[in-house]
Amino acid sequence: MSFPESVRNAWHMVALAKDIRPGTVRKVELCNTPVALFRNADGLGALVDRCPHRNYPLSEGRVTRGGLECPYHGWRFGRDGTCLEVPGCAVEIAGERRLEAKSLRVLERHGGIFVALNDVAPPEPDLPPDFGNPDLDHFWWQQGTWEGRAFDAIENVMDPFHTNHLHHGFIRRRDRRLPVNLIVTSHGDGIEMAIEQTQPDLGLMSRFLEKDRQRSISRYYPPTMVQARWEGAQRLTLCVNAVFTPATDNSFTPFARFSTPKGFAPAWLKQAAIRLFLAPVVAQDRRALALQHGVMTRFGNPHFVEGPGDILGNRLHKLWNGQPLTPSVDDPVEATL
Ligand code: FES
Ligand SMILES: [Fe+2]
Repeated sequence: MSFPESVRNAWHMVALAKDIRPGTVRKVELCNTPVALFRNADGLGALVDRCPHRNYPLSEGRVTRGGLECPYHGWRFGRDGTCLEVPGCAVEIAGERRLEAKSLRVLERHGGIFVALNDVAPPEPDLPPDFGNPDLDHFWWQQGTWEGRAFDAIENVMDPFHTNHLHHGFIRRRDRRLPVNLIVTSHGDGIEMAIEQTQPDLGLMSRFLEKDRQRSISRYYPPTMVQARWEGAQRLTLCVNAVFTPATDNSFTPFARFSTPKGFAPAWLKQAAIRLFLAPVVAQDRRALALQHGVMTRFGNPHFVEGPGDILGNRLHKLWNGQPLTPSVDDPVEATL
């Protein structure tokens, strides 16, 4: 078991609701467990992707007559895992527990589909504030499953110092930096970094999309969510909720939900502009995480040195592992970004 209990016991976003239409099934991976996710007329179903009969992948099957049918011998399973039919055999199977597929809890919230691997997970996924705020325009962005570890991706988005270099010209610049104050607040169940600055970043994105900037805040909501907010003097410019679902030990599936205040431009225009400017940034992070993972694999394990910019220290890792932090506010750190 390579994920800590804090991760295995959480709800995880596994797909966008729009990608699982009625009558379809899709394989998703979650903490090294393949899951057949499907939707019939009654709603969503999530079965461990292993037919109990001869271990055929159920995700290869089809949704028919109120269940998911395994292609091998045609056993059909309901959303709760019950075996509804064994074709060709006129025997009574109602209530036969040993024929059941393993079903998982599944929920749809705000356009995302969430799955819990066990009964320890709470009744509902814990979502950051504004996730479903009706006063904001929202859109989802999803780009498949990436090579690398979910935890390293979380560290990446919580780390502002890489943006000057890896995203030179798009977010910030490596040749011109702005003075900032970094303020880190530890909460019992999370951590946030506020970056106070008097003007927007010097990269293209801010120059085109941002009128003014007072601060940006990134907050980690363990185990898999990070919310980043950009705020001007008067109001929120942009809020991004990023979800990093661990697929396997070596891959993760990121989802991003972009939220902007209603009214300042049409939703479709904001979506097009954000996608246009962020596409290269996302590609840079994707490549970096894959390269980093390649090196860690080549050398056998991760080995990190903490430098002066790594002001979160091991606190992200503690939270990932389910250890609470002592609430506190660090002294502000002066830096240039
Ligand atoms: S393996 Fe699935 S029905 Fe036989
Ligand atoms: Fe990045």
